[in-house]
Amino acid sequence: MKSFSEEISLGLSKKNKKISSKWFYDFHGSKLFEKITKLEEYYPTRTERKILKENKIEIAKKIGKEAVIIEPGAGDTKKIAIFLNCLKKPKKYIPLDISEDYITKISQNFKKKFPKVAITPKGYDFSSNNKPPFKIKSSENIIIFFPGSTIGNFETNEAVKFLKVLKSKFKAKKIIIGVDLVKDIPTLISAYDDKKGVTAEFNKNILQRINNELGGDINLNLYKHLVIYNTKKKRIEMRLKSRKNNNIKINGSKYLIRKNEEIHTENSHKYTIKSFRNIVNKAGWKIKKTWVDDKKLFSIHFLNLDT
Ligand code: AVJ
Repeated sequence: MKSFSEEISLGLSKKNKKISSKWFYDFHGSKLFEKITKLEEYYPTRTERKILKENKIEIAKKIGKEAVIIEPGAGDTKKIAIFLNCLKKPKKYIPLDISEDYITKISQNFKKKFPKVAITPKGYDFSSNNKPPFKIKSSENIIIFFPGSTIGNFETNEAVKFLKVLKSKFKAKKIIIGVDLVKDIPTLISAYDDKKGVTAEFNKNILQRINNELGGDINLNLYKHLVIYNTKKKRIEMRLKSRKNNNIKINGSKYLIRKNEEIHTENSHKYTIKSFRNIVNKAGWKIKKTWVDDKKLFSIHFLNLDT
């Protein structure tokens, strides 16, 4: 697995500069994302929570008893808290996050609220090929809880691969997954280009991390937060666009970023129920139930391996 430093030097050396969105999430970036989830324009979090609340009994039934719940890229334990009390004898909750500091911190609050549920937070990059950071007993009722449309960050072929890995490596029997839906473009754009500029700050956190952790000297003010909707690929793309030619130095290496050049920092794919079913089936899973809100902004799916 490549380190932050290796990925940055690779990403900035490309003709079309690109950095993976997973690097947004150090402690500060995770805090900024939390702030995004509370913005008026950012509908996914609030809509998903509403769907979870309205269907928590049914969701808990589908999860079944003595569940071991694994949440990749957890960040926010507020979502599991919605249905946790409805579960029958939950065995374990394992939140995973690329920021170990953040997930450890978040888990402390969880322990206070749910002292009876065993929680074992782990720092883990779920997009890596690394072994799961905990023991897995395949006889257990293993559920993957993957809310937030985090799956949208993957290209579709990667999403299929990831769903397969949940089966092969994590021995998952069931998946509960949140998926953002295709909708009108202005709603999508403003969700990623909010008035307060929180998403802009979140986007620039990648540059901030380069400065802090890799000794970079990037002037953040030279970069503009750019959001486009790629209609062909049905995804929001975030970029950082340079206003001027500028040389950046990172640990002795130099990179020239030209005026108007863009660094691609995130893809957030949007699905229809049909296009999502397609990738689920390709990965060998079945959608057993789909819940959506009245405005059809967001969807939650229950997947299992039944034929
Ligand atoms: C955490 C990946 C689901 O794509 O909506 C929010 C990240 N980026 N605003 C998303 C994000 C900009 C978010 N995910």
